Amino acid sequence: MNKSKVFIALMIFGFVGSQYTSIAQTQDTLKGQMQMYQTNKRSNNLIAMNQTNKREFQPLPYAYDALEPSIDKLTVEIHYSKHHKAYFDNFITAIKGTEMESMDIKDIFSNISKFPVAVRNNGGGYFNHTFYWEGMKASGGDSPTGKLSDAITKSFTSFDEFKKQFSDAGKTRFGSGWAWLSLDDKGKLFISSSPNQDNPLMDVSEKKGIPLLVMDVWEHAYYLKYQNKRADYIDAFWNIVNWEEVARRYENGLKSLILK
Ligand SMILES: [Fe+2]
Repeated sequence: MNKSKVFIALMIFGFVGSQYTSIAQTQDTLKGQMQMYQTNKRSNNLIAMNQTNKREFQPLPYAYDALEPSIDKLTVEIHYSKHHKAYFDNFITAIKGTEMESMDIKDIFSNISKFPVAVRNNGGGYFNHTFYWEGMKASGGDSPTGKLSDAITKSFTSFDEFKKQFSDAGKTRFGSGWAWLSLDDKGKLFISSSPNQDNPLMDVSEKKGIPLLVMDVWEHAYYLKYQNKRADYIDAFWNIVNWEEVARRYENGLKSLILK
């Protein structure tokens, strides 16, 4: 091979090599961007999750009397400032000095069976209540719209049937616990209830999923106004559901599943 042929061959190898390097760099950049996007999407999936990850006791998103007459002012005040606050304080104490201090609360829940029961009870109590407060608002309750409305109709045949099944989940939960609407890993809606402070994000949950709506059916959520009539509290709950927030959770939940 003469000198000019060698030069041309080196040029070609050099060009092809630089293209491979460029493609590889582009792929690495895209991969990095996608991983960042996935991380952001997942961590932004639930406002409550972001807030609980801050390890700060968040302010109630409305005044104590905002949910009147469905939930009375004193119940909201005691529920938030005493019960919820106690779960927060006890959760912080339970994780202090452990690996959980720096863990995303979603990861704590998905491994909850490995951690002390105090973390399960108080971490659940902390997150569940934040999620509960955010899912309600003054003058809420109308009805879902858009894609969420379509998904509810598809899964439960009608909005009324959905309300009946969700209400029944709350009414039949023995003792203390929660009723949930969640998204499963196929993007399908389902209703469940959990005992104590468990939630569908926990690995111990009978049915795991991404929570969209929750109703607290512990007696402390309703006893001052409704005494033993849990069913009356559940009927009133529908007047204060923040459907815009539930729809936002639904959209973000679907996106996080697509990105998995
Ligand atoms: Fe509660």
